[in-house]
Amino acid sequence: MEKRIDSPARMATPQEKQSQIEYTRKIREMLSGTEPKKACVVTYGCQQNEADSERIAGMLSAMGYEKTLSEKDADIIVVNTCAVRDHAEQKALSITGGYKHLKAKKPSLIIGVCGCMVSKKESAERIKRSYPYIDFTFGTEKLWQMPEILYTVMSEQKRFFCPNEGKPITMEGIPVLRENPYKAWVSIMYGCNNFCTYCIVPYVRGRERSRRPEDILKEIEALVADGCKEITLLGQNVNSYGKEFGGECDFADLLDRICKIEGDFIVRFMTSHPKDASLKLIDTMAANPKVARQFHLPVQSGSDRILKEMNRHYNRETYLSLIRYMREKMPDIAISTDIIVGFPGETDEDFEETLSIVKEARYDMMYSFIYSKRSGTPAAEMENQVPAEVTGKRFPRLIEVQNEISLERNLVWENKTLRVLVDGRSKNNPDKFSGRTDGNKIVLFDADDSMIGKFVNVKISKAQTFALIGEVVAK
Ligand code: SAH
Ligand code: SF4
Ligand code: F3S
Repeated sequence: MEKRIDSPARMATPQEKQSQIEYTRKIREMLSGTEPKKACVVTYGCQQNEADSERIAGMLSAMGYEKTLSEKDADIIVVNTCAVRDHAEQKALSITGGYKHLKAKKPSLIIGVCGCMVSKKESAERIKRSYPYIDFTFGTEKLWQMPEILYTVMSEQKRFFCPNEGKPITMEGIPVLRENPYKAWVSIMYGCNNFCTYCIVPYVRGRERSRRPEDILKEIEALVADGCKEITLLGQNVNSYGKEFGGECDFADLLDRICKIEGDFIVRFMTSHPKDASLKLIDTMAANPKVARQFHLPVQSGSDRILKEMNRHYNRETYLSLIRYMREKMPDIAISTDIIVGFPGETDEDFEETLSIVKEARYDMMYSFIYSKRSGTPAAEMENQVPAEVTGKRFPRLIEVQNEISLERNLVWENKTLRVLVDGRSKNNPDKFSGRTDGNKIVLFDADDSMIGKFVNVKISKAQTFALIGEVVAK
């Protein structure tokens, strides 16, 4: 796959922005005078995709579409796809395949596929060839151009497959239709330059580019003024935020400026790459109570040899020293990680090193994945791919070790009172309400609808591996 390292991003020009506003207006005109049309956005993948989908929904709403959660009721469906593991792609393809019947019933239905999967040329071509009822595709770097793409499909009655080529463009001011009024994703940067050898993201999200601090601050000020209580800053490697601004505002500076915004809210961020997470950032967090006591620091493997093969640029010792520093500065901090089991060449000894780093780091939470071969990435070409029987045995052992630690880390909170932002009724346990602590732990408790979107104090009576249980107290 093409490794585009020489295509620096640029801001959209006022003309480019104006032309998308024009296309939006033209679509609104085309839709006016008919029964209100409905749009359904279906999202796979990470929080970046969730955030992108809120912008897709925002653009559709500006065109006059009403939002629906049901594909059956929709006049337009946009599927935002993920490509990080093969399973994610298969799922997106099978769901998209199911829309064939919907189109047969309603020929006027427009179906688009966007996001990471179709940012790969071969996947976009496959959709064009084998899914004749899909009307358009566009990759992650072309999201800002959706009004133009859709207008072409509607006005010329033709299919449009927008290539993910050229300089990535950052456009401010794209409308956003947020899922949740009191919790917001805010992308602070796009793309990734790290090229970890297993990972497809840099190929499908393009080169790293940061939004201007003024634009980010303006967006967050408006959110807080609107009553938003939790802001999650997003980027594939937030620690390299602002590199293009020549040291004028790095990630720690940005975080500090965000915390100076008045109001009752907390800030989270993800993801931090251990090679770039700085002591300055940890000090900034420690000094700012508005920053949630949560740190997602993916280690991927505990073996120095494998970390090198993964192109991660840190080792066990530097990683663990970061964790020690974090705990020294913020003893209550909850730390989580991502781990890949079965990277090519991973031996039993390498895997034991992963188990041992998990025990040493004592994570609150772990997201673990079996290595998935992504064609075009260097790791896909490596010899010694680990057979499924081997990963199948290693994976449950890792989970068992972590589950025990998660429970121990949760037990510490029994009989203590924690501040919790109330989400609503628990999906798994509808008798209870659920919310999240500063450390992003799930808490279950009795409450009523009036508490949704508010901070409450919950005294923890029981800790489980994946949740805390408690009751709301005055303080
Ligand atoms: N930018 C983030 C996360 C990117 S994707 C970071 O650097 O941490 C989220 C997680 O998916 C990664 O942390 C990694 O653990 C996992 N992942 C990425 N590529 C993978 C692959 N080919 N197979 C299995 N897991 C993978
Ligand atoms: Fe993928 Fe590595 Fe970039 Fe994360 S930092 S998105 S794992 S290449
Ligand atoms: Fe996210 Fe999947 Fe793309 S993890 S960046 S949606 S490949």
